[in-house]
Amino acid sequence: MALDASPPTLTGLTAPLDKTLFRKSIPILAARFSPTKIGSVRKSEPIRRTVIDLPRLRSVIPDPSAPAGDRLLLLKVSSEVDLPPQAQDFLKTESNGLVPYTLELDYDYWTADEMIQAILPESLRERSPTGFAMTGHIAHINLKEEYLPYKHLIGQIILDKNLQVRTVVNKLDSIDTQFRFFKMELLAGDPDYVVEHHEADCRFTFDFTQVYWNSRLHTEHERLVQVFKPEDVIADVFAGVGPFTIPAAKKGCAVLANDLNPQSTKYLSLNIENNRVSDVVKVSCEDGRAFIRGVVSRLIADPFPAYSGPKKSKNQENQERRRQRSLVPPTDTTPSLPRNKISHFVMNLPDSAIQFLDAFRGIFSHLDNQECDDIYITMPMIHCHCFTREIEPENARIDIIKRVEEKIGHPVVDDFSLHLVRSVAPNKDMYCISFRLPPMVAFDVE
Ligand SMILES: C[S@@+](CC[C@H](N)C(=O)[O-])C[C@H]1O[C@@H](n2cnc3c(N)ncnc32)[C@H](O)[C@@H]1O
Repeated sequence: MALDASPPTLTGLTAPLDKTLFRKSIPILAARFSPTKIGSVRKSEPIRRTVIDLPRLRSVIPDPSAPAGDRLLLLKVSSEVDLPPQAQDFLKTESNGLVPYTLELDYDYWTADEMIQAILPESLRERSPTGFAMTGHIAHINLKEEYLPYKHLIGQIILDKNLQVRTVVNKLDSIDTQFRFFKMELLAGDPDYVVEHHEADCRFTFDFTQVYWNSRLHTEHERLVQVFKPEDVIADVFAGVGPFTIPAAKKGCAVLANDLNPQSTKYLSLNIENNRVSDVVKVSCEDGRAFIRGVVSRLIADPFPAYSGPKKSKNQENQERRRQRSLVPPTDTTPSLPRNKISHFVMNLPDSAIQFLDAFRGIFSHLDNQECDDIYITMPMIHCHCFTREIEPENARIDIIKRVEEKIGHPVVDDFSLHLVRSVAPNKDMYCISFRLPPMVAFDVE
């Protein structure tokens, strides 16, 4: 005993979608019961299995012919003879009669997945696009070629069915080769690509058509930020709009954040301001290689002020102001040394970050040796993201180490770790190799 409540299949439609076409009337039977009885009756054995059980539909409704009186219990059948004999007997003795009722379903009733199935030809239904990713108010999908003729209909359905979505785009296969952002086409909704996206308690604003963003990296962002100590200085070589920089700065780290894409640094600066970390972040817009070569001496010449604890929330700042007014002495006794040493380099440009590693050769060689020795008692860690086509972990390790060592011209074997970030394609994995910069490399004189 089952009702077919699927939407009508209407292939060959064109955008904009005519929602009124998606209507379905299902004639059923309803049994009248007094309100006092209905609770126990609906679950009773003789009729339990005959009651409708459709998602998002109530099985008990007020009786339209007696709104203040009886309730209608909606049944899965359209005629009495379709009921099991036991249920028929039960209804005869217990109910106040059976009446015909029509279930009216429309576009608003069905889910996005059901609707997408309904507009596709049969051959495409089995592998029809289901999920989508969200960046701010933008839902983005990656449609396979065979679904492109239906892209605007699919877009409209996703837009209609998800309240938080204001714009639906299809990510095209092409990616900006230099700045790594996706090309995309509008499928439905507002052509507004400036999003506000939240990650790790930080607010990020950016134009999704002009800068790189990948929500799938959020655990990698968190993982590395966890590695940093609050008093560390971080050099974020390919910072994008700040998913490492901002949470690290909120934690207390000072950050030198760099990106070659002027649109990235524009939004990075806005995000720094919006997240109230301007005092601990300096932004630059230069090639990663030049940044790596200059940043050590730049920080020695112009250090960050001493670490003064993690970024305070507005509430904490207000408390602090009140405390100062009442002249209670501060409890924080952090030593106040300016921060002039980089503890970590972050290099998230997996396609080519390894190619930039030779820039570390000799980065200390033009500095005052004594000063450098005093500051860099421990060498900075380098966290370099990369891709490999070697899927087997041991082969991936060999491949990555080989490429890294070739570039820096020195073994890293003794002091490194390798972390699998994610699989980006069936035969392509993204890794992060973390190693301490060998002094021989940093002091190398070419
Ligand atoms: C994969 S994205 C990573 C951004 C950010 N760190 C994140 O996790 O989302 C790489 C970034 O490097 C920037 N970029 C590309 N080539 C660069 C270069 N030669 N020098 C500096 N930045 C570069 C791109 O604009 C992009 O924002």
